Amino acid sequence: MTPNEFAATIRSIPDYPKPGILFRDITTLLGDPRAFRRAVDELVQPFAGAKIAKVAGIEARGFILGGAVAHQLSAGFVPIRKKGKLPHQTVRMAYALEYGQDEIEMHVDAVTRGEQVLLVDDLVATGGTAVGAVQLLRECGAQVVAACFVVDLPDLGGVAKLEALGVPVRSLVSFP
Ligand code: PRP
Ligand code: HPA
Repeated sequence: MTPNEFAATIRSIPDYPKPGILFRDITTLLGDPRAFRRAVDELVQPFAGAKIAKVAGIEARGFILGGAVAHQLSAGFVPIRKKGKLPHQTVRMAYALEYGQDEIEMHVDAVTRGEQVLLVDDLVATGGTAVGAVQLLRECGAQVVAACFVVDLPDLGGVAKLEALGVPVRSLVSFP
């Protein structure tokens, strides 16, 4: 599918969750059988032979895509969650969002030193969440091979922040 075809499956909602935000809602893409399959296939495609040990997905929408990507790569899955949800010992990172502030956590033993990890989420905006996730993964010794998103909002600068950290970025649709 072309970027325009993916874009046509994504719904845009003005003033959600706050006035002034144009929210790109991927639930419509997920509900479209062809678009969901093609999105997962295209996220995976560059990493097919890359020996990815684990896919890290960011709560909540990154779990849906990341689980499918991990299955396709025969990789393990690492949940990166909002604070207070993981039962074992965690590492935690505060981060800023386009519309707020939050903290994410990961189990300390979710990755082993030197393991190759692919980070997956539905969307990158300011990059606050994904940069926080890269820091957690690196703190635990992972090698973050790349970060993959269905949607990139380039005006908010997230891709540039990830690339500045040395993390290559793949996305399927850009909404300038
Ligand atoms: C959204 C989105 C990304 C993040 C992107 O999640 O799914 O995780 O924001 O924003 P950023 O690049 O500015 O950090 P949200 O925090 O709304 O959580 P949810 O998936 O639980 O709804
Ligand atoms: N859609 C979904 N998640 C988001 C957005 C958006 O437009 N902006 C920041 N996180």
